[in-house]
Amino acid sequence: PSSGGEGGGGDSAGGTINIGLLMPLTGQISQFGEQTRNGAMLALKQRNNKVGNYTINAVVEDDKNDETEAVARVQKLVTEDQVIAVIGSVSSRISIPVSEVLEQQGVIQISPTSTADALTPGKKWIFRACFNDSFQGKVMAKFAREELNAQTAAILYDLANPYSEGLYKSFEAAFTDLGGQVVKVESYRTGDQDFRAQLTSIAGANPDVLFLPDYYNPVGLIAQQAREVGVQATLLGADGWDDSQLYDLGGEAILGGYFSNHYSVEQENPESKAFVEAYRQEYGEDPSALAALGYDAANLLLDAIQRVIDNGGDPTDPEQVRDALEQTQGFKGVTGTISFDENHNPVKDAVVLQTTANGHKYVTTVSPQ
Ligand code: PHE
Repeated sequence: PSSGGEGGGGDSAGGTINIGLLMPLTGQISQFGEQTRNGAMLALKQRNNKVGNYTINAVVEDDKNDETEAVARVQKLVTEDQVIAVIGSVSSRISIPVSEVLEQQGVIQISPTSTADALTPGKKWIFRACFNDSFQGKVMAKFAREELNAQTAAILYDLANPYSEGLYKSFEAAFTDLGGQVVKVESYRTGDQDFRAQLTSIAGANPDVLFLPDYYNPVGLIAQQAREVGVQATLLGADGWDDSQLYDLGGEAILGGYFSNHYSVEQENPESKAFVEAYRQEYGEDPSALAALGYDAANLLLDAIQRVIDNGGDPTDPEQVRDALEQTQGFKGVTGTISFDENHNPVKDAVVLQTTANGHKYVTTVSPQ
């Protein structure tokens, strides 16, 4: 694509740089989309939509968490709005096809939240602000073995969602590696409402823990039905559990479970403290991990643009911004300190949270070794 504005050329005259925000603002995970957008918009607002003399113009698009819609929206962002970068999408199932378009077009993508391993490897233009599912699955397997002393595990996952499937595989491999035994694996498809058959089979295997790698809506239902058919296991999950609706949907059945996440409001560092205050003031609620990652993703991009300008480059040239982004070192984000590995994955910590009657409670932090 050509430059995003009338400026460019590396002078100090400035200009406009268009960036895209691609999020599921309607549909099954619209909560996730709104929070991620709010986080990213706050980052822009705090800089008055400016980096140096350049105005950053954010174009927001709703991908409806639908693949076809997402690809159409992203093509519009590239051809009509001539964005140099897209922040999005939220779920891995959408971010992966979007990455194929952007990789081909030579436009930067930073997914705030998509954790599926397959998103970034082998791609020049694609980055993420979150850790990946290999790490996340390992975190929960280790927690189950070492903190909960679990000997046996069962897994129930969505075979139509690469996020869910990837987590199932990484949890299973790590749990087995650490000397545990996976005694039952069952599956379903996105949109299913009745999990009783699979859960009855899991109840028969009587596992110590049941890993449920999916978003809050199916997980809430699954938790209820699991208790109904006699599953006693401690429930475990991952970042997809992070929404207060988990408690509305799961009721008592979801309490006492554990899940891995990108961030906890209870774990303060100077960056996160200032962020939490600003977010509360702007939106009247606590930021979720998605909001924090949306904020970090936007700031990673703005920081790279700033460095291009500082070095006398042209920040309307996506290639220069991409190179700067790749060279990010020790970026102090709300969700941790970010440098990218060779696959454009940040190397950073995860937290484990417990589901309690008073909401999520911070339990521990796990670092990659
Ligand atoms: N990690 C999920 C995915 O890749 C998205 C997600 C991130 C959901 C953070 C909730 C919280 O599909």
